[in-house]
Amino acid sequence: MRILLLNGPNLNLLGTRRPDIYGSVTLQDLESQFAGWGDHLEVSTQAYQSNHEGALIDRIHAARAEVDGIVFNPGALTHTSYALHDAIEAVEIPTVEIHISNVEEREGWRRRSVIAPAAVHRIYGRGTDGYRWALRHLVARVSSPPERFAYGPDAQQFFDLRRGGTRLAVLIHGGFWRHVWSFDTLDLNAVDLARRGWSVASIEYRRVGNGGGWPVTKEDVAAAARAAADEVAADSVVLIGHSAGGQLALEVASEVGDDVTAVSMGGVNDMVLAVEQQLGDGAAMDYLGNEDPAAACPTRHPPKGPVVIAHGTADDRVPFSYAEQYTKANPARLLATEGGDHFRFLDPADSMWIDIVGVLQS
Ligand code: DQA
Repeated sequence: MRILLLNGPNLNLLGTRRPDIYGSVTLQDLESQFAGWGDHLEVSTQAYQSNHEGALIDRIHAARAEVDGIVFNPGALTHTSYALHDAIEAVEIPTVEIHISNVEEREGWRRRSVIAPAAVHRIYGRGTDGYRWALRHLVARVSSPPERFAYGPDAQQFFDLRRGGTRLAVLIHGGFWRHVWSFDTLDLNAVDLARRGWSVASIEYRRVGNGGGWPVTKEDVAAAARAAADEVAADSVVLIGHSAGGQLALEVASEVGDDVTAVSMGGVNDMVLAVEQQLGDGAAMDYLGNEDPAAACPTRHPPKGPVVIAHGTADDRVPFSYAEQYTKANPARLLATEGGDHFRFLDPADSMWIDIVGVLQS
């Protein structure tokens, strides 16, 4: 697989240009990091930057027979260049639009992307690490192309389905219920389960900042899971959530029967504790608004079906106490990984993920 990294105007100044917004990584550093991420994922990468719209268009045309995907930060041309939109559309190469900064929370004009309709996915606000997520997304979709389904009228109400058998895994991403994080974080897990014969739905849902919050977010997750289960005529369903997605998996499972399994990986399993401790800069409060945290607390309202709580003891985003708190009060299979952190679950070659798959397949 070959992936092109494309950067537009002013991105040659990375590292010195507004480091408060764009960070201190230079373009050269970024391009060599990108090549390293490519090596890790066993894909070959190439990189190009230009300050000129026409040169970017020429490079996209030249990529036509050459690459399988493009990671593209069009810079300010994002907001104006219909010509770049048309170039991406014309070559039909899956392209992820990426922005280092949170363009949704800056000047109003940055919110508008004329490129987005031609792109397969859009990542923003995750710093230069966003390029790594974009690369992972392309690798996942090129190696195992999903079908997209809408389960509601909002742009965030969709799931990507990899169709397998009648066992369905519903993947619920985390990110403290905030909109900069999206379904792509669990892409490699989706591909891994699909290879093992599962049907897998990578769901998106409205989040805090793009129409979500309690209870809209959990209602979206429930609706997405139902729609995916109908689509594949599932005879068994497992809801697998990471981080805040773990809370959502447990919360949604608690509202259905005992035939649904819930897996919480590094999950925010106790909302009362999350509010008390202002976990993730007050993320639980932002999610709940005026709602009583006890009403959305899986520790107090556990699912009726089987529960797997997987957590690393060295998790510094959602501490291990969130697993202990839940499993002290409720029956669950606890998979504790000594020294494990918050993100190892997202690597399908990692034992923290392999342990979960082992439990689900047994
Ligand atoms: C940017 C955001 C654009 O609005 C801006 O013009 C850029 C960089 C980003 O990476 O955050 O040049 O694309």
